[in-house]
Amino acid sequence: MAEFIVFAGSANPALAAAVVQALGVQAGTAQVERFPDGESSVKVLESVRGKDVYLLQPTCPPVNDNVMELLVFADACRRAAARRIHAIVPYYGYARSDKRHGRREAITASMVALLMRAAGIDHVVTLDLHTDQVEGFFPGPFDTLTAVPPLCEALAPRLAADAVVVSPDAGRVKLATQYATRLDRPLAVLHKRRDSGTRTEVTHLVGDVEGRPCLIIDDLISTGGTLVESVAALREAGAAGFLVCATHGLLLRNAVDRLADAGVERLFVTDTVPPCDDRRGIVQVVSVAPLLAHALRQLTQDRSLQELF
Ligand code: R5P
Repeated sequence: MAEFIVFAGSANPALAAAVVQALGVQAGTAQVERFPDGESSVKVLESVRGKDVYLLQPTCPPVNDNVMELLVFADACRRAAARRIHAIVPYYGYARSDKRHGRREAITASMVALLMRAAGIDHVVTLDLHTDQVEGFFPGPFDTLTAVPPLCEALAPRLAADAVVVSPDAGRVKLATQYATRLDRPLAVLHKRRDSGTRTEVTHLVGDVEGRPCLIIDDLISTGGTLVESVAALREAGAAGFLVCATHGLLLRNAVDRLADAGVERLFVTDTVPPCDDRRGIVQVVSVAPLLAHALRQLTQDRSLQELF
């Protein structure tokens, strides 16, 4: 077993603190700064020579700053002769830019993966990735863990016996099926058309929701637009009551207010990204720190992660 060291970037200090505490180690010391002009600067303050380095940094908003800080951190460790660099990226920003919708668009998820590799990252660990193909953009080991089991544990006591699990679009059917199977509830699927980065429209519903409470699941909530549209479509189809669950609760702008105003009673998310201001008291945060600590324990001993997928 190689000596290892865990460093926390500045994106989610609370999660990093919980992970190292659960692991029973001290985080490595580093000076992480933004210069007045916005440039990122990282100085690693202890030796990483010959060690396995774990950099914990979700690339959540401000996405560009957090991506850049991760790259700078990796470069600092690589130049200081780290043995292997593992990026623990609980939320993988840019994962939604995984294909071109026209001829003149970037595939930013691929570009970010290649930048990570160029900066010296050997291995990436993430959680509930938006699409599986993003794994293939990184030319090295890539492990995607899932927060579905801990989220289902939190959901189970709040879920009515006749509830239906709903996928808000075709892309989430696989994830929704995992929830439906674990929670032993039927599945319904909405079909959505995306008009822009912030506007979507639900066009079809497959499944029976009349008179039943719905649990709408997603990988991430950004502006809340997808879920507000989903609630409206399900209400029109006669659904009675709404819970929402997503691994990554970015909850930007007034997303929580929009969801509460739309009639969402409770919103389950994890702490892959820092918590939002829950003025409406509807957000329940499930920590992924135990899951990440478990994964790190396995990795530091070169053991399989199979039990965590
Ligand atoms: C889309 O395919 C994703 O899975 C999410 O549904 C979407 O990106 C969430 O964004 P928003 O909350 O802004 O609708």
